[in-house]
Amino acid sequence: MGAPLAFITGASSGIGQALAWRYHQAGYRLALVARRREEMERGARERGIPQADWRAYGADVGDVESIVAAARECLAQQGVPEVVVANAGFSIGVDTAERADLDVIARIYAVNNVGMAATFHAFIEPMCQRGSGRLVGIASVGGIRGMPGHGGYCASKAAVISYCESLRGELRGTGVRVVTIAPGYVDTPLTRHNRYPMPFLMTPEDFADRAFHAIAAGSSYRVIPWQMGLVAKLLRVLPDAWFDRLLAGRPRKHRGG
Ligand SMILES: NC(=O)c1ccc[n+]([C@@H]2O[C@H](COP(=O)([O-])OP(=O)(O)OC[C@H]3O[C@@H](n4cnc5c(N)ncnc54)[C@H](OP(=O)(O)O)[C@@H]3O)[C@@H](O)[C@H]2O)c1
Repeated sequence: MGAPLAFITGASSGIGQALAWRYHQAGYRLALVARRREEMERGARERGIPQADWRAYGADVGDVESIVAAARECLAQQGVPEVVVANAGFSIGVDTAERADLDVIARIYAVNNVGMAATFHAFIEPMCQRGSGRLVGIASVGGIRGMPGHGGYCASKAAVISYCESLRGELRGTGVRVVTIAPGYVDTPLTRHNRYPMPFLMTPEDFADRAFHAIAAGSSYRVIPWQMGLVAKLLRVLPDAWFDRLLAGRPRKHRGG
């Protein structure tokens, strides 16, 4: 039997790239997916990963045809992955009173939500036939409660959590596990310009190592780091009035443009 395969979206930067290197370190072949194909190719070459061990697929996860085609190409060229990580996503502030931001919200849902389902789509049948595999959805602690100025992203990540839970139930008994990972704060281009404190900030490498183990263990849902898991649990039970007061006046996520 050949080396197992990990299909990872958002592999040109941050968490996705660190996860890819972690899987390679564990002996996996890689299917790397993002829009910036040359970034992934450069990264794999710079790390000295043998050409036979990876392929890069240039695809836009926000375009269903594009990501489904990449998944099918992967199946044809590299076989059925052991692990599929739907990690590609973006975060940006929105203001519902601004007309232009309605398009931003639509794009957030297209990439973070429809894109996740479209990433998993082509793999479900062959993985179920084989009777093993992991489908991993990257959510966020931001999906646990809605933060002012960040409604599109928070709603999209809350949807990731519910969507993955639904899928987990659907695939129960097939041998295919659905794993939801909710990162706290990770130091990547996505968080670099945040204007608020980021407790328990992790390096992408540290995050990737912890996520690798949670995925291998087949956890159904894991907040990383565990300290943020505790914060998330507290936030969930905090009465609305207290939660609103806690966040009042906090700097907001920057909007686009
Ligand atoms: N960093 C954090 O603190 C944090 C916390 C919670 C959750 N997360 C989640 O973790 C995931 C990765 O975030 P990150 O921090 O690693 O961000 P990042 O460094 O900005 O990387 C985002 C990755 O997603 C890819 N991507 C974005 N839009 C895409 C599209 N339409 N089609 C294909 N690929 C696309 C980007 O590649 P291209 O630009 O090349 O397409 C890039 O590789 C996201 O889902 C994010 O919401 C991050």
